Amino acid sequence: MIIVCQKCNTRFHLDDEVTDKSSFVARCTVCGHLFSAYKPKRVQEITLLDLERTIQDHANNHVITISNRKGGVAKTTTCLNLGLSLSLHNKKVLLVDFDAQANLTLSMGHKETSTFYDAQKAIDKPLSDFLVESKYPNLWLLPSGRNMVLLNKMYFGAQNFEYMLKDRLYSVKDQFDFILIDTPPSIEFYTLNALTASNRVIIPCQCDYLSTHGVDQVLRLIAVIQKRANPHIQSRILFTMLDRTSNSSQLIFSKISDLYQSQTYRTVIEMDGVLKEAQILSMPAIHYSRNSVAGKQYLELAKEIIDSIDKAQSSAQ
Ligand SMILES: Nc1ncnc2c1ncn2[C@@H]1O[C@H](COP(=O)(O)OP(=O)(O)OP(=O)(O)O)[C@@H](O)[C@H]1O
Ligand SMILES: [Mg+2]
Repeated sequence: MIIVCQKCNTRFHLDDEVTDKSSFVARCTVCGHLFSAYKPKRVQEITLLDLERTIQDHANNHVITISNRKGGVAKTTTCLNLGLSLSLHNKKVLLVDFDAQANLTLSMGHKETSTFYDAQKAIDKPLSDFLVESKYPNLWLLPSGRNMVLLNKMYFGAQNFEYMLKDRLYSVKDQFDFILIDTPPSIEFYTLNALTASNRVIIPCQCDYLSTHGVDQVLRLIAVIQKRANPHIQSRILFTMLDRTSNSSQLIFSKISDLYQSQTYRTVIEMDGVLKEAQILSMPAIHYSRNSVAGKQYLELAKEIIDSIDKAQSSAQ
């Protein structure tokens, strides 16, 4: 099992047999902090996991994770505005809030709703019982909330824990044209599950210096996931919050564009104060203002993604 010090985040690999107790107190040998640790449950016992089925599942090109280890780079903003834009292109979209901060759920005006954690507790109920229809046509949400933090505590490090989301989404994935998964700025239970469940990853990269390090970390993680759990996964970088009036923003943009060349989206999302105003009112930008620059760019991004998936499908036939 893996346990994580809650103060310095050091991970320790312990023998499963070291204790019979489901929770125990551990002392971190790095920082000396005493913390409560939970013995992960065996994932197979609580889900209907069928590993053979999930490994052979190639049909997940429409399941897209939004990930960057750096915080505040517009992961949640991209999930909401891209999801809404795909729905405006007549696609049926499910947004999965797989971040215990629940920012996506709050941005859509929901709180105190049942979460993925509740769905896992009620494993006999279909996942569709936990999906919420949003006020926007064709747009659905699998909400997050405070109890989502327990997933990391209870299952991180358990055998096959990274397949939990993929296994649960299996029953609903064919009902949607796109499933977008929002993740936290860290690599633990949530991001590993999301990357295992999806065949595509959008890496939002804010045009500032430190964001580039977050991109590298996600790319390295994706290479590991490709070997271990999901050989079909592909990623692309999305530039966000580009400030065309700032020299440093433009400089970073051209440097990263050169570095990653074919791995970036053609569409770039610019800095747009309308997004922040829209967020205060729990609205996607394009609904708040038809003239939102970023709102229109998310519509273009949706079109670019639809076209690239159509192209990949027709060349595979
Ligand atoms: N194009 C944009 N123009 C202006 N502000 C933006 C833009 N995109 C996002 N923001 C703002 O940046 C802030 C961070 O965005 P967001 O919450 O989407 O980031 P995040 O990567 O999901 O953060 P976290 O890592 O904490 O989950 C928010 O206040 C959001 O309104
Ligand atoms: Mg977020």
